[in-house]
Amino acid sequence: MPDEKPTLGHEHLPAKLGTEFITAFYRLLKGTTLYDRGSVVIDRLTRECLQVVNGIIQWEGNLILRVVRGHFFFNQTRIIASPDKYLIFKALWQEMKKRRIGGMEFSEAVSGEHLKDLAFLLSGLEENNESNYLSVKEQLKNRNIESIEVGKLEFSKDEDLSVDSEGQKKYSKEVYFRSMGLVKEVVENIDQQKPLPIRKAKRLIQNAVNAVAQDDSTLLGLANIKNYGEYAFNHSVNVAIYAIALGQRIGIPKKHLSHLGMASLFHDLGKTKIPEQILNQTGKLSPEEASIMRSHPVVGAELIMRMKEWGELSARMMEGAFEHHLRYDLTGYPRLTQKKKMTLFGRIVTIADCYDAWVRPRVPPRFPYVSEKILGFMLERSGKDFDPAVVKVFINMIGVFPVGTLALLNTNEMGIITQIHEDPELADRPKLCLIYYRDGEYRKGKGVDLREMDEVSGAFKRTIVKTLDPNEYGINVAEFFI
Ligand SMILES: [Fe+2]
Ligand SMILES: [Fe+2]
Repeated sequence: MPDEKPTLGHEHLPAKLGTEFITAFYRLLKGTTLYDRGSVVIDRLTRECLQVVNGIIQWEGNLILRVVRGHFFFNQTRIIASPDKYLIFKALWQEMKKRRIGGMEFSEAVSGEHLKDLAFLLSGLEENNESNYLSVKEQLKNRNIESIEVGKLEFSKDEDLSVDSEGQKKYSKEVYFRSMGLVKEVVENIDQQKPLPIRKAKRLIQNAVNAVAQDDSTLLGLANIKNYGEYAFNHSVNVAIYAIALGQRIGIPKKHLSHLGMASLFHDLGKTKIPEQILNQTGKLSPEEASIMRSHPVVGAELIMRMKEWGELSARMMEGAFEHHLRYDLTGYPRLTQKKKMTLFGRIVTIADCYDAWVRPRVPPRFPYVSEKILGFMLERSGKDFDPAVVKVFINMIGVFPVGTLALLNTNEMGIITQIHEDPELADRPKLCLIYYRDGEYRKGKGVDLREMDEVSGAFKRTIVKTLDPNEYGINVAEFFI
């Protein structure tokens, strides 16, 4: 970075530099929780971060990073994460929030040792202590480090600063299963022509949007495992989760995210009017049956249109129902007499719907449960079935090894992926829960982090060799995840 002169337009420069700093600093900070100060990994991360910091100072004169209500400001300009850096931004914000640190400032070029000092000072702070910034200031002063300053986290009263990952996980699970119940209730009420639980639905989707904003890995994990309850309800909720998480990454505002949630949750509503015998058929459909099946987007849109109770929401919800089989190049169904572009909601729901349907197809021949194959297939269909820009973000979001994937390691151990790191560079080094076979069944082993290295050899302790289909081994992934 420092040797190359930034060539981007003036307005993009703060975003580019700020993102480079956030990424490099987050990597260093995260490194301090895993490695000793003397380790080669810390040396490398410090060097990389130092190059970014001093490059920025050379170019801009100083470096100020502040965070206000979850938004980063770099040298006074608000910067927004690009989809591939989204998790890193979020993770650094969480780390700062936890320690009540609101920002840092470098007023001149620093040395590697000073940068290391800062990272280790920050990582050693206790959680939720309001005076943390004072103790960092004091420590910096004691070490004669004058070019680095840290600031206190300023927040408004209504802001919830508590970070409780176990609590969030529980909340996410609750939202997931309550959403399944809601879809079921709506479908039953339509059947029995009873009023729809609109308020409840809106509230629940709002909760889902919040849950995704706080912790999308649990919800994406639940969606990926998809092994519980009735397919139709399960599918609807999964599509909603993928859509909300995807929408969040492409920067759709919160209010619209809940509309997107509704549009995706009820995208297949038209299927309630398709005869069971056609819906459940696993063999090939006759041309008549296929055309009935293909009517479900139109039927769904009509059903939603008639639901006066949804108010302004119904127009947005119709986009999901009507367009989800249309395809980006409009070669799908329903056939349009007039060429029009798909709406953003339609393009998002299509991607979420296809992925969920392909990961657990109901009809043979099945794809193996290997999302890399499906993602590869989706990439091939980019520009045809899918909006190229949106599908790229989606593939990035799911990653090669999504949560819930069963993997074989080079140590001959098997494990289920439980957490993916925020850093895209570590996409192939997730956290796993090992499983082992004893007394006729698979059991839960210890949790491992594939970033772990052998301190002596400097080689990774474990590496994924390939992913496996849990059905082949009779493993119920959900048991190990939930
Ligand atoms: Fe559908
Ligand atoms: Fe669907």
